[in-house]
Amino acid sequence: MTPEQAAHRIAQLRSEIEQANHDYYVLDNPTIPDAEYDRRFRELQALEAEHPDLASADSPSQRVGGKPLAAFAQVRHRVPMLSIRTETDTTPAGAQAFDARVRKELGLTEADPAVEYAAELKFDGLAMSLRYEHGVLVQAATRGDGETGEDVTQNVRTVQVIPLRLDTEDPPELLEVRGEVYLSRGAFERYNERQRALGRPALVNPRNGAAGSIRQLDPAIAAQRPLSFYCYGIGETVGWALPASHGEVLDRLAALGLPVCAERVVGPGSDTLLEFHRAIAAKRDGLPFDIDGVVYKVNRLDLQRQLGFVAREPRWAVAHKYPAQEELTTVEAIEVQVGRTGAITPVARLAPVFVGGVTVTNATLHNEDEVRRKDVRVGDTVIVRRAGDVIPEVVSVVLERRPMRDLVTPLSDAFEMPRTCPECGAPVLRIEGEAAARCTNGLSCPAQRKQAIVHFAGRRAMDIEGLGDKLVEQLVDKGLVATPADLYGLTLEAVAGLERMAEKSAANLTAAIAASRARDLHRFIFALGIRNVGEQTAKDLARHFGQLDALMAADETALMQVADVGPVVAKSILAFFAEAHNRAVIERLRAAGAWKDGEARPAAAGHLAGKTFVLTGTLPMLSRDQAKGIIEAAGGKVAGSVSKKTDFVIAGSDPGSKFTKAQELGIATLDEGGLLALINIGSN
Ligand code: IVH
Repeated sequence: MTPEQAAHRIAQLRSEIEQANHDYYVLDNPTIPDAEYDRRFRELQALEAEHPDLASADSPSQRVGGKPLAAFAQVRHRVPMLSIRTETDTTPAGAQAFDARVRKELGLTEADPAVEYAAELKFDGLAMSLRYEHGVLVQAATRGDGETGEDVTQNVRTVQVIPLRLDTEDPPELLEVRGEVYLSRGAFERYNERQRALGRPALVNPRNGAAGSIRQLDPAIAAQRPLSFYCYGIGETVGWALPASHGEVLDRLAALGLPVCAERVVGPGSDTLLEFHRAIAAKRDGLPFDIDGVVYKVNRLDLQRQLGFVAREPRWAVAHKYPAQEELTTVEAIEVQVGRTGAITPVARLAPVFVGGVTVTNATLHNEDEVRRKDVRVGDTVIVRRAGDVIPEVVSVVLERRPMRDLVTPLSDAFEMPRTCPECGAPVLRIEGEAAARCTNGLSCPAQRKQAIVHFAGRRAMDIEGLGDKLVEQLVDKGLVATPADLYGLTLEAVAGLERMAEKSAANLTAAIAASRARDLHRFIFALGIRNVGEQTAKDLARHFGQLDALMAADETALMQVADVGPVVAKSILAFFAEAHNRAVIERLRAAGAWKDGEARPAAAGHLAGKTFVLTGTLPMLSRDQAKGIIEAAGGKVAGSVSKKTDFVIAGSDPGSKFTKAQELGIATLDEGGLLALINIGSN
């Protein structure tokens, strides 16, 4: 590259990064995935290092983030909020590279003992500085550009896990706590489900949801997205005797009642870091919140001081990232899929892309309104996201890269929902107020029939091992199976005749089907695939009625005696059993001995009889099962979601949207102590 070319590329990268920074930090509307941003940032850093004469103080490589919005009061950080260097080597060897740099900077030789490190998670949210004066939370500020942030105290006060007062008799004059505000995956999913159901825009990702909610000018709106917080350090302190190590700092913060993540370790040398990196990689998908990596810190504070900083980044800390959960790819086609209840879901077929640890070729577009809002078209470059076990989804379109016919006309047309079912040709109907369009053909539609059978065989339903999508597809297409009842009549010869079906696997499948007979009633009810009857409701129904015939005979009033069953669920159940076809299939399943009835156990008598409780958050002493047990022992019911029928919501720490909903509906909320008091009233 000639110096002219380098200068040109540097200018281009700077402007792209400035734009991305603005979109991300100021507008809360990211336009490129983090991995792409990181690549450009690294390219810029590398070019500037190669051409020191082209370096410039106002290059985005020289600063931390974006300018605060004008609408919030500005807060000057007396101790700046720094950034951390990202280890370029994303393989586990990155941990060794960090250790080697630290040892070199400290002038250690091989003969010297290992350096002690603290390893923790890199939370993916918004950095926050909390100022406690004499133990009271007086101010919360965002990082902003590291020197000046925004005063978001009102919004931060809505974060339930952040104590408004420190838990100590003898609070320091001043303690600034630094950490990350984030939105848990559960809160994110629940919020988006509700938004989609209301036909409102969904959040792009949890990080964005957290940032948007913290920087929301109206704290009431902020409070609708239940945020969480974890501390990872301190800022300015007065009258607080500093401990000797970072690990002890976090222990002390935890002792003051501040939330500190338990997923952290302290130990010697790069082996500690490697082991932590590996262990977290293994459980990353199962964590209740997003992380984009881990952070390693030199544990001793005196060594941290000795190591100091380069530009805005400490030499004593490094971020070690995992493969990105968002990537860019292109849309090759948009197709629709027909689900078990006939819902027609648009799906983007993608050029294969490695994201969130797997190669993704399909991503859901949820429903018609979502496709329209995002305006996804064939040929578009899109941001795809896959986090945890969540189905990959298209986050947004990179409009600048849309293939165009001319300046204003895109090459592809906007997506249109088909008017007839792609599987059976029946009309597609969208009922007003519902997000999903549905095929109106019920079980006469082969796609719905297949999905119904796949659901019936599922792990949480009848648990027929080995009977997945592919096999069901063949069984239905060959005319061997049309309803779940036909499964029990399958012969070994019929199964062995299927494609790619060795004799052994045919025997395994028929054995698995036979083994699924006489399942507990709740599994069978769930397996039927009644709309709005999930696993929990199926359990409640089985427990309440004991026998399938009693359930089938129940009218709306009888059904609504069951916790969690409201008019919508009751109507779905009635409609299902009213269908002659469904009754016929059930009779054949009865003849096959598919389930076994139990005993009816309607809510016991007790002083809480007739009262419905909902649990949310973590209780200090009782586990969820224990709390449920004592409520039920007193005759109460525990339901999964808050409705007008709920009498009490029991809220622990980090409560979810149920808590907000209870407040909206004016339902009494109690903490653990309140619950125990209520239980005790009856026992006196
Ligand atoms: S320490 C001097 N620890 O990552 C080091 N930061 O680029 C200051 N972050 O803005 C940060 N998890 O918001 C630290 N365990 C962790 C973190 C963490 C997430 C964020 C933080 C900061 C950014 C660093």
